[in-house]
Amino acid sequence: MMDSVFRTRSLGTAAEGVRDQYADGKAAKIWEVFIGDKKQRTQNYKDFLVGLLRERGCHRILDVACGTGIDSVMLLEEGFEVVSVDASDKMLKYALKSRWERRKEPAYDNWIIEEANWLTLPSDISHLIGDGFDAVICLGNSFAHMPDSFGDQREQRQALSNFERCVKPGGLLLIDHRNYDYMIETGQTPSKCIYYNSNHMTDIKTSVLYVSGKPAIVTLDYLINLDASDPENVNEFRLSYYPHRFEVFREMLEEAFHYRAKHTIYGDFKSLDKVKCPAFYIHVLEKQPYQQD
Ligand SMILES: C[S@@+](CC[C@H](N)C(=O)[O-])C[C@H]1O[C@@H](n2cnc3c(N)ncnc32)[C@H](O)[C@@H]1O
Repeated sequence: MMDSVFRTRSLGTAAEGVRDQYADGKAAKIWEVFIGDKKQRTQNYKDFLVGLLRERGCHRILDVACGTGIDSVMLLEEGFEVVSVDASDKMLKYALKSRWERRKEPAYDNWIIEEANWLTLPSDISHLIGDGFDAVICLGNSFAHMPDSFGDQREQRQALSNFERCVKPGGLLLIDHRNYDYMIETGQTPSKCIYYNSNHMTDIKTSVLYVSGKPAIVTLDYLINLDASDPENVNEFRLSYYPHRFEVFREMLEEAFHYRAKHTIYGDFKSLDKVKCPAFYIHVLEKQPYQQD
């Protein structure tokens, strides 16, 4: 039975003002199942991300929404140097566990994992930024976790500007979001995820909350069957997102890069003209290279 009342998954403990939807540990645990084998991403996703980073000569990567560490592990395995941060200690716990278990391998021994909040990112990781990262990634529909607390998207703009500050001149920001325009129009979310190889997903129930006539929160109830031999065994977790409109988000990103970045947008990892109604948009911003006067 679905709730008819909006409830947050957990009020969360404040990590410097951030509400942590994973704070009760339940979503973090099921997330591990939802994403499937940590070493396995969909081939399309892996080819896209690893291919793009290699093509642009990126080596040192900052994963600003590492969660349980799934993207970071994939990049470590592919030979990248990775710094991984997240605001949720319940999610980081799983990344830290992976690092501990494989600490004898140099890539894992050198893997830096820290707690940090997008709103204070440059100061949280000031000791790690140096001249900036070759690439900053914020993937898996993570950015939409940040609510619009003031109704003018100022915190989201601040976070994007903080991401920009972590990218070195000539470096990249890769950031994605679900196709909220489609979700608002239809009230539906495709349950097959373009990132994960999970066999467990059964459904995603979508609710859209309007405030003053504008869609303000999209809540997704993930229904996951953990045991194929028992179809009744369905676990559920709920996450809420800010529904980024494609055009508005595109403009916010360009503003964060002072309207000087090259901005390429993909739909489900393909060029936008090749996919009619993508489940995800992936934005790639190339920060203007350093120019001598
Ligand atoms: C959907 S998970 C994605 C994790 C991973 N990238 C993946 O694809 O599996 C989103 C992550 O963003 C983190 N997050 C949300 N708001 C944040 C903030 N303000 N600062 C840092 N991390 C945040 C959450 O704690 C969560 O672990």
